Amino acid sequence: MEDTAIVTTINLPNSLTSPEADSAVLEVTGGASLSGQVAVSGAKNSALVVMAGALLSGQPCRIRNIPHLVDIERMGEVLAALGVGLQRQGDSLEIDARSIAHTQAPYDLVSRLRASFFVIGPLLARMGEARIPLPGGCAIGARPVELHVRGLQAMGANVHIDHGTVHACVPGRRSRLQGAKIYLDYPSVGATETLMMAATLAEGETIIENAAQEPEVTDLANFCRSMGARIQGAGTNTIAIAGVPSLHSTDFGIIPDRIEAGTFLVAGAMTRSEISLCPVIPEHLTALIAKLQEVGGQVLVEGPNRLRYVPGATLNPVDLQTGPFPGFPTDMQAQFMALMAVAQGSSIITETVFENRLGHVAELNRMGADIRINGSCAIIKGVPRLSGAPVLATDLRASAALVLAGLAAEGTTLIQGLHHLDRGYENLEGKLQQLGAQLARKPGV
Ligand code: EPZ
Repeated sequence: MEDTAIVTTINLPNSLTSPEADSAVLEVTGGASLSGQVAVSGAKNSALVVMAGALLSGQPCRIRNIPHLVDIERMGEVLAALGVGLQRQGDSLEIDARSIAHTQAPYDLVSRLRASFFVIGPLLARMGEARIPLPGGCAIGARPVELHVRGLQAMGANVHIDHGTVHACVPGRRSRLQGAKIYLDYPSVGATETLMMAATLAEGETIIENAAQEPEVTDLANFCRSMGARIQGAGTNTIAIAGVPSLHSTDFGIIPDRIEAGTFLVAGAMTRSEISLCPVIPEHLTALIAKLQEVGGQVLVEGPNRLRYVPGATLNPVDLQTGPFPGFPTDMQAQFMALMAVAQGSSIITETVFENRLGHVAELNRMGADIRINGSCAIIKGVPRLSGAPVLATDLRASAALVLAGLAAEGTTLIQGLHHLDRGYENLEGKLQQLGAQLARKPGV
């Protein structure tokens, strides 16, 4: 692969990164039926960790199917700050980590993207040290990282936190982490990914028990294996990694985004519309598909990577609780609640993964929903129709839920806080417009 110029940002449309993006408003006119097929982008939560994983390789890597998102741009800035070369070409990204000039990630960048913390494992594995600001909490929870830290300590790293920064290093003359047997108190996606990446270059074997089984963990494992890592069991609750001295280059494609796909399936249900999605991996959406079929619709597999949603005659209320994969994904909880807000009856949704992921309830109630919160449970009494209103998005998936609610509401919904939406959805309004939805992004007043 030819030498790649060092670029510091991955260009996004100015509309997504300008200060005006924060004040822009999405105007959604409810009532339109949708039809046609929507293209699903690459998975944000795979692309972010795979970009960090590219630090493990002493040779340049190409990663394909990378979505154009603000979070991706921010991860690119973090890698560039470490002295890594990046070159964006369409939906591909070339990352050249042959030399890593710095092992400290800047606070101002980490504070804007929690996923920046993913660089700690690869930096420790390759460079023997890392200084990463604590990612801190966000709207949905405190988001601690003690499972990451304890696992790295089990692998022989000295890790201490000082003035809000995690200082980690491999002590003594050993430049490599040591394989270890690690039990995760909770099947944390991030901790599983951090420790799996660190273990690829460790001395000896690492076993991660009670590991997360999300598809993005498996995608990361497949990425690392394509660089020569020796990983068994990704996608199950026990992952075994046999460390190797180094990893080589690869050309790897990211899986489709199951949460974006699920968001469009719920859009079909909300608007009683028949739509198709491609590419998609149906087995990444088993829990959601089962719940949508309980609601009354049909989700038909039209090919190895294509789904069709067919609405049913009714919208039945359905109880659910979120949980680690293969349970119902917490990242679909807000969107599904918007659907239950117009179901014919009452339902209970319990959020078990994050401690504060019900911020969308107040905004849905502003649109005429009838939802009460009792601890981590939301009791939703379906109403015949929501009514359009000005609303404020509180977090990424809440913003998607408000868009969906606006599609089904009577009248116009004005959604502020679009910077949340732009972190995780590539051109959501363009894709929905293509399906026939009536919505447009307007500059803020
Ligand atoms: C990943 O976050 C995703 N983000 C999240 O997606 C997703 O909601 C989450 O996994 C669960 O599926 C990315 O992959 C970038 P966790 P992560 O570690 O890794 C607790 C979205 O909307 N925990 O599995 O941070 C934690 O507080 C985002 O796209 C500890 O207590 O999730 C939480 O309650 C939101 N200690 C629970 O585990 C730790 O050391 C799940 O967190 C780590 C986690």
